[in-house]
Amino acid sequence: MTEVLQVRHGSSAGQPITRRDGPLKVTGAARYAADNHPPGMLHAVVATSAIARGRVTSLNEAAADAHPGVVAVMTPANRPALAMDPDDKSVPFSFRMDLLQDGRVRYAGQPVAVVIAETLEAAAEGAALLAPCYEAEPVEVSLDQGEAFVPPVVGVGAPAELRHGDVEKGLAEAAQRIETTYETPAQFHNAMEPHGVVAAWVGDTLSLDMPTQGFALTQMRLAALFGIPAESIHIRSPFLGGGFGSKLLTSPQVLGILAARLVGRPVKLVLRRGQMYGPVTHRAPTRQVLRLGASVDGELTALHHHVRTATSRFDDFIEPAAGVSHTLYAAPAVRTTYEAVRLDTGTPGFMRAPGEASGSIALESAMDEMAQACGMDPLEFRLRNYAEVEPVSGKPFSSKALRECYAQGAAQFGWAGRPLLPRQMRDEGGMLVGWGVGTATFPALMFQGAARAVIRQDGSGLVEAGAHDMGQGAWTAFAQIAADSLGLDVERLEFCSGRSDLPDAGIAGGSAHTATAGGAIRDAGQKVVARLAELATTDARSPLFGASNVGVVARGGHLLRRDDESRGERFADILARAGLAEIEAQGSSVPDAAIAERYAAHAHGAVFAEVKVDPELGQVRVTRLVGAFAAGRIINPRLVRSQYYGGMIWGVSFALHEHALLDRRTGRVMNADLAEYRVPVNADVPSVEAILVEEEDPYVNALGIKGVGEIGITGTAGAVANAVWHATGVRVRRFPISIEDLIEGSATV
Ligand code: MOS
Repeated sequence: MTEVLQVRHGSSAGQPITRRDGPLKVTGAARYAADNHPPGMLHAVVATSAIARGRVTSLNEAAADAHPGVVAVMTPANRPALAMDPDDKSVPFSFRMDLLQDGRVRYAGQPVAVVIAETLEAAAEGAALLAPCYEAEPVEVSLDQGEAFVPPVVGVGAPAELRHGDVEKGLAEAAQRIETTYETPAQFHNAMEPHGVVAAWVGDTLSLDMPTQGFALTQMRLAALFGIPAESIHIRSPFLGGGFGSKLLTSPQVLGILAARLVGRPVKLVLRRGQMYGPVTHRAPTRQVLRLGASVDGELTALHHHVRTATSRFDDFIEPAAGVSHTLYAAPAVRTTYEAVRLDTGTPGFMRAPGEASGSIALESAMDEMAQACGMDPLEFRLRNYAEVEPVSGKPFSSKALRECYAQGAAQFGWAGRPLLPRQMRDEGGMLVGWGVGTATFPALMFQGAARAVIRQDGSGLVEAGAHDMGQGAWTAFAQIAADSLGLDVERLEFCSGRSDLPDAGIAGGSAHTATAGGAIRDAGQKVVARLAELATTDARSPLFGASNVGVVARGGHLLRRDDESRGERFADILARAGLAEIEAQGSSVPDAAIAERYAAHAHGAVFAEVKVDPELGQVRVTRLVGAFAAGRIINPRLVRSQYYGGMIWGVSFALHEHALLDRRTGRVMNADLAEYRVPVNADVPSVEAILVEEEDPYVNALGIKGVGEIGITGTAGAVANAVWHATGVRVRRFPISIEDLIEGSATV
């Protein structure tokens, strides 16, 4: 007897479902790393250096040791041995670490000792009692200082110089030429959750509660440092309170692990907010020179983007800020060059849209200046120079709906009728009003990942992947991909993640996590379905008998004949008849080198900003932001919008707020706290809209996903800066834009 099925369940991907872990977070039940208190746990507090260069000559260990509750003071003298020099960088993506190897100080805020105590208070008091004495050397912490060198590579192995066509010739032939310099400051990582670790050694096995953006990389580095197999390191990182690129392994976390080894008890070490300004990487400052040429028709003839940036005295990370100029505009001649100086700071590193964020504020400002020089509307100017193929490589784009982004964003914002000249618009209160546009872009990347999928006896599904949810909603998006790949409703799908003993789903970085882990999950799910199909179609008792593998489809917990969806059966029935408790498969994802060879893959967007500026006080308010983004297939529009909002708000922060002030005499960050290191609050961002522009990408990866985590910050910062010019007529080229810039600048307009 064949029962007629009516299975109507649709795809889960594309649905705006809310975060699966939302209730845990709003009720406080979500357990972050530092919420774990294993029995016998001690507290560790890092003592950090007050100088930026020199040596620690003495520490009052006796005073700290004698303090009630203090169990141990860890210094270079008694720090447990490591199997690898902390300055050895042979493990991929690793930075040189300060693990109390000697008394040398390389930057302000560097850990110089760790105090371990029965209570957090005792540890903090003990750390204060150490009162280090120093032999200080003169420091350099400004881009003006130091001898510049041409770095061998920038970012992650990109060349420091790129030439396409003849820039000098293009500039010589241009009807309009501009040469402008833009400066961006150092920005420091301020994720809500500071870096920390709860570490416990059981023999040579290491148990860690620690936020991380990459299990395998962290295991690899710790394995090398401690001389133990990676499999002996168990990391739990179910939730991160933000990562933004800073939460690969950092030296303070390793110090917590060393402290646990020293005292033979579990140890918790969490950085204080002020201690984040040093050892956990930061966004490097840049000074960027843009030279542009354009024809009488407003077509770019040449684009030269030169970046001066800084790395630390002892390690190399070069902010790849000129990368945006390879991609965005159709100049026949493009050149990008770099120079760097060494400063007495911690080593800079990845921070949301590393390279693109700083580079795009300069390029978008320069494009605005050139549009102005050509007497063109800045949007029209960008369209005039629309890149139909990737300018430097000549490759076609895997997909590019940027034209639609411009059109939909402009329509929603109401860009039409924008006066060409600045200082033309006022609101009813007399505020100067300005409108600006910026183009957003970020490469569509993908790494390697693995996952495991299971259909259980009762027809429900389980997918396991060592993936990372930094707050972006990865748990939810991955569950949606998993549900679809297994043909289950998402409610019937258990998604298990955030542990290093699960298949490694790749790093959460480069806006590539959904493509990477999602690809692996999809692969695992499809393999399970293929096995189910094999069971059913080869069994004469199944209504699917005789339908080949390609002839069935999995949906709503059923396998159905593709040619007649009223015929099929439940997963649970297939398993029961086969006498199986479950069917499982491993899946993986790897980037396709052939596709990368053939196509340039980038997400794009257009951001429109309105600002209001007080003509007397120079106070700037962003009143409206509209971003339209095309990033391939969207798994969850609600979560994706939220990523765009977050990115755009950081763009506002970049243009108007964030600025780490380094004291030239001491090398210390003078505003190392959330009171004086400014970030936007709700009142700074009244209205943000994100439009999801449809884009189908058949090439970029199996899921057609381009990534949405970082692109929002690009484009936005430039749009805000351009709007400030349009409101005031003052072109500020040093970020963040300050009231002083506008008041002083106004005097000359
Ligand atoms: Mo991101 S800066 O790749 O976490």
